[in-house]
Amino acid sequence: MADRFAFKEKESRSGRAGLRLAGDDGRKDEPDTSHVQVMSREDFVRMFAEEYTPSHLTMIGPTQRGKTTLCFHLLGAVLAAHKQDHWRVVFLHGKIKRRDHVMKDEAKAGNYRIIKSWPPGFTLRPKHWKRNVNGYILRPLGNDKLTALEEEKILKQEFGKSIRTVYHSTRNVTITVVDERAQADKDLKLGKDLDAPLQRGLPHNPEWNNIQRGAWCSYHCYDAPEHIFLFVDDDDSNIDRYAEFGVGDPRVIKRVMAGLKLKKVETGGTISQCLYMRRSDRFMCIVDT
Ligand SMILES: Nc1ncnc2c1ncn2[C@@H]1O[C@H](COP(=O)(O)OP(=O)(O)OP(=O)(O)O)[C@@H](O)[C@H]1O
Ligand SMILES: [Mg+2]
Repeated sequence: MADRFAFKEKESRSGRAGLRLAGDDGRKDEPDTSHVQVMSREDFVRMFAEEYTPSHLTMIGPTQRGKTTLCFHLLGAVLAAHKQDHWRVVFLHGKIKRRDHVMKDEAKAGNYRIIKSWPPGFTLRPKHWKRNVNGYILRPLGNDKLTALEEEKILKQEFGKSIRTVYHSTRNVTITVVDERAQADKDLKLGKDLDAPLQRGLPHNPEWNNIQRGAWCSYHCYDAPEHIFLFVDDDDSNIDRYAEFGVGDPRVIKRVMAGLKLKKVETGGTISQCLYMRRSDRFMCIVDT
């Protein structure tokens, strides 16, 4: 009897010891992130544009990380790759005035027309004709002194018209870029209109969302996109949420996020590398600044 007990005792001890060891190993053992390589921006943008088919995209990161800039780089390359098909862009530009110079520069570089209301009107200058531009930056607010409520009413009306027309269109592929999704959802209450396209598996007209504060946006922005870009974020609870997107191992995502590099730029912003994740084949890489 005594022997049998002794054996059990030994067995259970070694069992516990085994478990404890495995636990310790798990903690010591960092997840393997060697498959997540750094790509130069040029290489990444080229690869992305070559492979891109109409699919949703989401970029998440605090202000001044370089989201809008990367968006325009990708759009330029994607449109160039589909020049024959005449793909277009509608870029919804909200109310933040100090960003105006960026929009003007991008409009010029990317050959977009800045318009105040939807649909785009006629214009006599040939370079502004519909077939001669890559798309539109819809910027309903001018320099008029309006109250916040008046501004929101105008934005909601013009953005809403554009979102709905593009959603129902079966003509040339049009990418709608929502540059501040939190504003569109929370202030403008356009969440429902913007969620409709995201709930379509294979969209004809994709939606690209830029998000500063993840907690305020519809979960479809996280569930639906084929392409996700995560920029450096200091908030641990945000990182926890982003790691659960289901695109990769959360521990890998967290470790890669912790290693992303930051860079100060002349305008006072702190841009960062970002983690790119593709849902269909779980490909991940780091996009350099
Ligand atoms: N790769 C880069 N190299 C140099 N400067 C950059 C780069 N990317 C962005 N910038 C500059 O950094 C600043 C912030 O970039 P951007 O406006 O794209 O950030 P953002 O994440 O969209 O910010 P916000 O959320 O406030 O709109 C801009 O002045 C931009 O010109
Ligand atoms: Mg931006």
